[in-house]
Amino acid sequence: MKILILNGPNLNLLGRRETDVYGRASLNEIIAKVKDRGKKLEVEVESFQSNEEGVLVTQIGDSSDKFDGIILNPAGYTHTSVALRDALQACNVPCVEVHLSNIHAREDFRHSSLTAGACIGQIIGFGEMSYILALEAIVGYLRRNKG
Ligand code: DQA
Repeated sequence: MKILILNGPNLNLLGRRETDVYGRASLNEIIAKVKDRGKKLEVEVESFQSNEEGVLVTQIGDSSDKFDGIILNPAGYTHTSVALRDALQACNVPCVEVHLSNIHAREDFRHSSLTAGACIGQIIGFGEMSYILALEAIVGYLRRNKG
């Protein structure tokens, strides 16, 4: 089983960016921990980050042949991107949306997610642990639903 972790804009700055909100771990450190958990769950984990919406859309569009599931942190595009939502709906690969922060406890414009409705579920607010929980969730879902 192969899982893609897809990270959107500015998440390459984790560890330096608004550490009071997002924590001190870098994206590489978070991904390393998720990959570690992946080994225990006997699944392969690949990760990709881009600051560009079109690149993320293409990654999602290309995922059907390569991946069984997606963990997506669309970052700022969560709240704006019809294109990412359409890509998720078109690709037929189950996706869990993830956020480090609790977007509902922040500014009003972060309260809605355009992408969440095209996902099987959303895990938010647990910092780097959100990614581990998302991996457990997608693997559990796939094992139940794909046999
Ligand atoms: C975020 C929340 C978004 O609102 C924000 O634009 C981000 C990070 C999170 O993981 O908490 O870049 O997706």
